[in-house]
Amino acid sequence: MERRVYFVTTNEGKLREARIVLGKYGFRVEAVNARKLELQSESLEEVVSFAAAQLVGKVAEPFVVEDAGLFIQSLGGFPGPYSSYVYRTLGVKGVLKLLEGVEDRRAKFVSVSALCFQGETRTFKGEIEGTISFEARGSAGFGFDPIFIPDGYDLTFAEMALQLKCEISHRARSLSALANHLLRVRDFSSNFKPGYV
Ligand code: IMP
Repeated sequence: MERRVYFVTTNEGKLREARIVLGKYGFRVEAVNARKLELQSESLEEVVSFAAAQLVGKVAEPFVVEDAGLFIQSLGGFPGPYSSYVYRTLGVKGVLKLLEGVEDRRAKFVSVSALCFQGETRTFKGEIEGTISFEARGSAGFGFDPIFIPDGYDLTFAEMALQLKCEISHRARSLSALANHLLRVRDFSSNFKPGYV
């Protein structure tokens, strides 16, 4: 039986990563470019659950909606759930400027992936701890990748091979948990039909 998953995003970088991570579990990822309203909330779980609820019945299943954010400790977790707005407005340079003269550079990336399948929505969380670099480095990846150094490495995400980012990242962790769950429920499900739209 073909293992297909529909991934709702307009972000090419996320799509590439979802294909690598979910591909390891034997899933073929189809991109879905569906319009959804973005809830403004401090909780990534609420943001993805709200987005997923709007798409049930409109998008083929099983489908995945993912939302992520960069949480900087010395800024009280900012930009967190507002990361995409801050990326578009302040950008990487603006965030580095906010941290000028700041010694505590600890930060984490958090990803929450929602899975909608057979009338149920479940969320899976993944996190990676690290630090914010003093300057932007590297050209791979997207978003804040050039300024995030995961713990245990000297490289920013943007200096790493994508395969390595996809082994350790917040998104890799939330999507791996989702894939393990989906493999379990799918195998026990008698009426599974890949994609009904
Ligand atoms: P979104 O709301 O999930 O699309 O992501 C919010 C913002 O966080 C994005 O616009 C990126 O700037 C940033 N972001 C999320 N995930 C990553 C990542 O894996 N690397 C770098 N930046 C990321």
